[in-house]
Amino acid sequence: MKSIRVENGVFHLSNQTISYLFYIEEGGILSHLYFGKKIADYQEGFRFPRVDRSFAANLPNSTERVFSLDTVLQEFPGHGNGDFREPAQIIRHPDGSTISDFRYDSYEIISGKPKLKDLPATYVEADAEADTLKVTLKDEVGGLYLDLYYTIFANQPLVSRWSELRNGGEQTVHIQKLASSSLDFPKRDLELLHLCGSWSRERTIEREVVHHGIKKIDSKRGSSSHFENPFVALLSPHATETVGDVYGFSLVYSGNHEAIIQKDAYDQTRVVMGINSFGFDWPLAVGESFVTPEVVMAYSSQGLNQMSQAYHELYRNRLVRGKFRNQERPILANNWEATFFDFDDEKIMAIADEAKDLGVELFVLDDGWFGHRDSDNSSLGDWVEDRRKLKHGLKTLAEAIKQNGMQFGLWFEPEMISEDSELFKAHPDWAFHVPGRPMSPGRGQFVLDFSRADVRENIFQQMKNILDEVPIDYIKWDMNRNMTEVYSSLLTAEEQGTVAHRYMLGLYDLLEKLTQAYPDILFESCSGGGGRFDPGMLYYMPQVWTSDNTDAISRLKIQYGTSLVYPISSMGAHVAAVPNHQTGRITSLQTRGAVAMSGVFGYELDLTTLSPEEKAEFKEQVAFYKKHRQLIQYGEFLRLRSPFEKNQTAWMFIAPDRKEALVFYYQTLAEAVAPFEVLQLGGLNTEYTYHVTGDGLDLAVKGDQLMNLGLYMGLNFNGDFQSSILHLQAQ
Ligand code: DGJ
Repeated sequence: MKSIRVENGVFHLSNQTISYLFYIEEGGILSHLYFGKKIADYQEGFRFPRVDRSFAANLPNSTERVFSLDTVLQEFPGHGNGDFREPAQIIRHPDGSTISDFRYDSYEIISGKPKLKDLPATYVEADAEADTLKVTLKDEVGGLYLDLYYTIFANQPLVSRWSELRNGGEQTVHIQKLASSSLDFPKRDLELLHLCGSWSRERTIEREVVHHGIKKIDSKRGSSSHFENPFVALLSPHATETVGDVYGFSLVYSGNHEAIIQKDAYDQTRVVMGINSFGFDWPLAVGESFVTPEVVMAYSSQGLNQMSQAYHELYRNRLVRGKFRNQERPILANNWEATFFDFDDEKIMAIADEAKDLGVELFVLDDGWFGHRDSDNSSLGDWVEDRRKLKHGLKTLAEAIKQNGMQFGLWFEPEMISEDSELFKAHPDWAFHVPGRPMSPGRGQFVLDFSRADVRENIFQQMKNILDEVPIDYIKWDMNRNMTEVYSSLLTAEEQGTVAHRYMLGLYDLLEKLTQAYPDILFESCSGGGGRFDPGMLYYMPQVWTSDNTDAISRLKIQYGTSLVYPISSMGAHVAAVPNHQTGRITSLQTRGAVAMSGVFGYELDLTTLSPEEKAEFKEQVAFYKKHRQLIQYGEFLRLRSPFEKNQTAWMFIAPDRKEALVFYYQTLAEAVAPFEVLQLGGLNTEYTYHVTGDGLDLAVKGDQLMNLGLYMGLNFNGDFQSSILHLQAQ
């Protein structure tokens, strides 16, 4: 196979742009060599140096003092027999010891990319799209086999890694930690970038120098979380959007995760990533195996934009599935910020009628349509229409909206249960709790134990009753709290360390069942906005409500940060009312539109209260978005100026044939006697002459001039929170 070569114990994965190299070291240790720009032919000259280091134990049974697990670069380090750095695996054996000594056993090259059992993952549609190397290591004493998987994608600067532990021994062992990947960098200066934040402030870009010691980016919340996204990148110092080395690590998982970054005594840096080992304990019986989620590693030699484009392309085309994968997404109107819980069918119809008149294509009925849910304190788990609000019933409402020419969508929060619900009365034990201990409510609700098949089946049937009866085109799947009292009454004391991961497997199982049973429904994932914006969810649900924060200026940062990993076609973005519900800020409709139109567009306000002028502007926005959404949702996305660094933000969308582009430019605060801002564009064809319109411009300019000389921007801006959109068409 061309992209994977094995010679003299060296494994070389490469495609047109990248190489990944490792080899079998002394004693069968797998030692890392290189990940980065393509090396056409590796020629042996580079092996880990043999030097005696004090306080570095030598390989078990070795008389050699110059080789130690504590210093060598490794592919999947353990602990307890020489490596004192962060391990990729900790397995407790029947005798209570936690040392496993994995040595090379065999390898296999697989065309394409195998599926990961019960887990979401990237995929291929033809074997030619990727090759996979499986390297098996063996712990002789424990009878354990460890399979390390490496997929190299053709034409993409991406390598995916995951691992599988098989118990071929004689007794049950406990997995206390099993990472998906571990990567060691030889001595070099590096910076760490991660996406942190909170509810309403998701995916804030934070960057710092990697110093000695350990930095852990993680979630223990039972979800990937608003607080730390399952993504980190290491960068060469001062790398920018267009310059420098960037190594991305993106975990395809929606639950507790960790990325541990350690710089060791010899200035080598290790990145270990996978399921969070905190509280994790998985008994693995004889003959059983455990598969980790996948880490997609990206390498870019041209800064962050190139990394993002690689993730966007892979996640858009080979992570998202189903009929909506490459389909233009509908413009929606959602009633949440318009009505909250206070609505009836007349009010909803009135908003929907207005939406239709504006050209909106999908109406979404949000929270509050079921049980007796007049506030967030009740009814989760009772997925039955509330006839007090919907006097003619959900079906009649949905049919009326559809007859009016729009699609109909509905909100669910399937993983939750309210104490004030019929479901809780019937099954109080279905909520996560530890017998004898008080339960901790969050938003007045509890989490259903989705590790249990019977609980999932009940929710599936309740949803099925509605989906089989009511014509539904779209589901917003919400999840509004993090997990406490993570304990399952059906499992033994020994198995409680498995619950958080079993929950995820249960959730994925239900999502698989629903999305297979209802392939024509477009699913949008949500967790109080972007609390579960991760690749795991994208496998089932092609779009995500990016944040509950609908303020245009906050959204600049949120959408910019999100775009580091996630494609524009996955980012829900709506125009909301002003003053904004989250910030109290007042921004123009033009700027709210220009921000929301940089994602999957929609409206989230009371459309019955619009003035004729506002209505006219809304109609223009809808028409503009319809005309350009193919370019926005599926074009190449390029960040030009960062709201984290500047008073101005800019990004652009470029058509695959480079003949058309849109540039969005924003200025946060006005300045007196402001300096003139020049914006250099990117991604254009140097030879094409582009007709540039918008922001008072009407020019015919060549691509090289637009990218090198640039354009003066914002000359007509007046006041805070301004924006403009440029359209470029090759002549
Ligand atoms: C949180 C979501 O992010 C909102 O859009 C809305 O659906 C509410 N939940 C409803 O409770």
